[in-house]
Amino acid sequence: MRTEGKAGASAVRASILHFVADPAEAGEAAAEYFDDGLLILADGKVAALGPSDALLPGLPEAVKLIDRRGHLLMPGFIDTHIHYPQTDIIASHGAQLLDWLNTYTFPAERRFEDVAVARESAGFFCDELLRNGTTSALCFATVHPQSVDAIFEAAAERNMCMLAGKVMMDRHAPDFLTDTAESSYRDSKALIERWHGRGRALYAVTPRFAPTSSERQLELAGRLLEEHPGVYLQSHVAENRDEVAWVAELFPWARSYLDVYDHFGLLRPKAIYAHCIHLDAADRERMAASGAAMAFCPTSNLFLGSGLFDLEAAGAFGVKVGLATDVGGGTSFSMLQTLNEAYKVAQMAGQNLSPWRAFYLATLGSARALELEQRIGNLAPGCDADFVLLDLAATPLMARRMEKAGNLAERLFALMMLGDDRAVAESYVAGVCRHVRCRP
Ligand code: GUN
Ligand code: ZN
Repeated sequence: MRTEGKAGASAVRASILHFVADPAEAGEAAAEYFDDGLLILADGKVAALGPSDALLPGLPEAVKLIDRRGHLLMPGFIDTHIHYPQTDIIASHGAQLLDWLNTYTFPAERRFEDVAVARESAGFFCDELLRNGTTSALCFATVHPQSVDAIFEAAAERNMCMLAGKVMMDRHAPDFLTDTAESSYRDSKALIERWHGRGRALYAVTPRFAPTSSERQLELAGRLLEEHPGVYLQSHVAENRDEVAWVAELFPWARSYLDVYDHFGLLRPKAIYAHCIHLDAADRERMAASGAAMAFCPTSNLFLGSGLFDLEAAGAFGVKVGLATDVGGGTSFSMLQTLNEAYKVAQMAGQNLSPWRAFYLATLGSARALELEQRIGNLAPGCDADFVLLDLAATPLMARRMEKAGNLAERLFALMMLGDDRAVAESYVAGVCRHVRCRP
């Protein structure tokens, strides 16, 4: 234990749950749970985790004890796909993907040319993530490099592990939002050099989706990845049927939509693709073999009428899957609400999402999709101390339902179906409390 003699070391006493494996493979043994647990923190990291009765007697006096009995402590949620500049157009009525982009998204993203707009929005966005218990995200900025600076600066102020990138988009979008293949390469490269690995910032090369990039731009996105090992890639694939048909027209030589990205070297570990709905078996097999990951965005897929993500098929092929809100196509910042809709998407496909798998997806599963499980998404000693304290009785209805819940699985299920930001009592980032919910 690394607490001895460390100024500022602290320990949180609560019920504690995290995952050490995928419940789809290990069942309930994938979860480690301490009904009366202690999480010991030092230097912003987890120093030790275990039952209170075993750890409390050896706790040095200098360690500050934070008593949160009655709360459930879990790793902070990780959102593997979200657009911070779309915060203001969340809940915009009446369109499917391509119309929605033209009607709402592009005009909203135009405003981020103004760095003051970008800064204000990035600050609000980070606070909203923390209010919802999300401590890390893989995030789209806009085409404007200053929008990337703004989100990394806002995340750094809160010491959050944030992954983000400048949208690369050189065609099929309004002039005010397009770059060129060469300028997008230059700007992305400069941003990588400025931000990747600085504090907790990680850069993601961000071609918006195949229809808005020329072949030259996709080629240069691949070159950025080759030139900067360790950098991420994020994009969208196979979300909407009209989009899939458009890609077939634009890239007639490709076997499938996913194959376009493969052709340019964009399928690889640390590449995360949102949606992945309209794929075939060959696509899923290729995704698994490449090490790329899927971001499952249930609220967005339902809201935009895109289709139903096939969680079992992803698992059958061994593809990594993370959970994501996809705000502003998605309708909530809350990963609890996102799990609520994930459960219903699975139901519509005749599949059964257990509460264990659900909370795994929101934490360790998403960390694995990002290849960050050594740092976040779980509470193993040495991990960054990013965690949430959840109040399972946050509303009268939740309190009433929890009284009837016979075991932890039932409580977790009620939490994901009924919970939202009201259930997030506190969010900690690298051992520091960054959000406390004010009860009305
Ligand atoms: N495909 C291309 N751009 C976007 C976007 O901003 N949101 C969603 N949901 N899909 C996209
Ligand atoms: Zn998206």
